[in-house]
Amino acid sequence: MSRLVIRGRNRLLGEVTVGGSKNSSVAVVPAALLADGKCVIDNLPMIRDVRVFAQILSDLGASVSIEGNSMAIAPNGFSSHVAPYDLVKKLRASYYLMGVLLAKFGRAEVGLPGGCDIGPRPIDQHLKGFRALGAEATVEGGVVRLHAKKLVGAPIYLDIPSVGATINIMLAASRAEGTTIIENAAKEPHVVDLANFLNAMGARVLGAGTDVVRVRGVSKMNAANHSVIPDDMEAATFMMAAVATSGDVVVRNVITKHLEPITAKLKEAGAVITENGDYVRVQGPERPHPINVKTLPYPGFPTDAQQPLVSVLARADGVSVVQESMYDNRFGHVNELVRMGANIKVEGRTAIVEGVPKLVGAPVKVSDLRAGASLIIAGLSAHGVTEVNGMEIVQRGYEMMPEKLRSLGADVTEEDE
Ligand code: EPZ
Repeated sequence: MSRLVIRGRNRLLGEVTVGGSKNSSVAVVPAALLADGKCVIDNLPMIRDVRVFAQILSDLGASVSIEGNSMAIAPNGFSSHVAPYDLVKKLRASYYLMGVLLAKFGRAEVGLPGGCDIGPRPIDQHLKGFRALGAEATVEGGVVRLHAKKLVGAPIYLDIPSVGATINIMLAASRAEGTTIIENAAKEPHVVDLANFLNAMGARVLGAGTDVVRVRGVSKMNAANHSVIPDDMEAATFMMAAVATSGDVVVRNVITKHLEPITAKLKEAGAVITENGDYVRVQGPERPHPINVKTLPYPGFPTDAQQPLVSVLARADGVSVVQESMYDNRFGHVNELVRMGANIKVEGRTAIVEGVPKLVGAPVKVSDLRAGASLIIAGLSAHGVTEVNGMEIVQRGYEMMPEKLRSLGADVTEEDE
């Protein structure tokens, strides 16, 4: 177990470069198994979730090699439709193996996924999609078993614009006979990124990024190379750290369009944000202003940015209302922020954040990935020393976070707990 020791109050100054998107990487890497040849994926963040996927693909018989932020994936001896149970439960996105294995072999055995404990995370919409394509789906003993003599394209209406279900159905439908139409599809940037990769391999995906995605199945998919889009949530995390420390930070290697909901809300909170091509410059106010925010599917304010934002608002000069509409239990950071002097009350899926003039460092514990980002931001802006325990959870989704913070002038050191 490792912790990050933060001595707060340093204004973050300078430039930081964002890595590839975690949530796109964990879809693109398993998708490469659909190709009949070697794919090279670039701009991958070398985070734990990506490394776990490399292990899973190797266990399935593919040959995988990593060099810097690139991964080469060749199907070679890829022949097993049974995913390794112990690795699968280490991450949420392992469920994408269901769509890939079903498309490739007509059958799949994948353990129920793991991932952050932010509330119930069912996969009923995924199974609804697979069944619509002609697969039998059962869940027994913690394992999802899928089998289809033949996958046939079909219309599928998602009850909710689920990112995972949209991507998983795209994966399975890419090799189905005929056309699949996914209605009420998720529009997140990583859905589009995966669609671009599938099309590069020869699939026919139209409409990704809108709420109607059409997938015309193909019988063969070829090797293709792909560069993963920048991580909008890593960018958001550094933007918020700049605001929380009254800093002045240029966040490089971003797609500004993907950051629009973040930029809009941080401007409301008093930040001066200028954007130009592939970077945003964020200048934080002396003290943030209160704002109200409700998390929504893209292009609404992203749920993954809610927890870091609450740390910014904890020091606002007024009361903010934060509504978490996507998950039942995504306020795991609040109790830890209260230890640092924050004044926050949670009622159901709403947090009432009464800003305080200052936070004071304390030992805190990371409950989930974005809660970790939230506690780091709080520690950077707090007086005194904050010990963020459970950094291995943060390392699941953020590459070289301590190094990047130090390059911006933060006083942070890593220790073993
Ligand atoms: C993806 O999770 C992300 N994870 C999450 O990011 C992100 O919070 C979420 O999308 C929403 O943007 C990855 O991409 C690996 P959903 P996913 O299916 O696919 C419910 C992070 O911090 N739902 O869009 O699981 C579900 O319970 C992580 O990087 C069903 O009810 O999200 C949730 O309330 C955390 N049935 C809502 O829909 C289903 O079959 C949105 O879930 C599927 C989902």
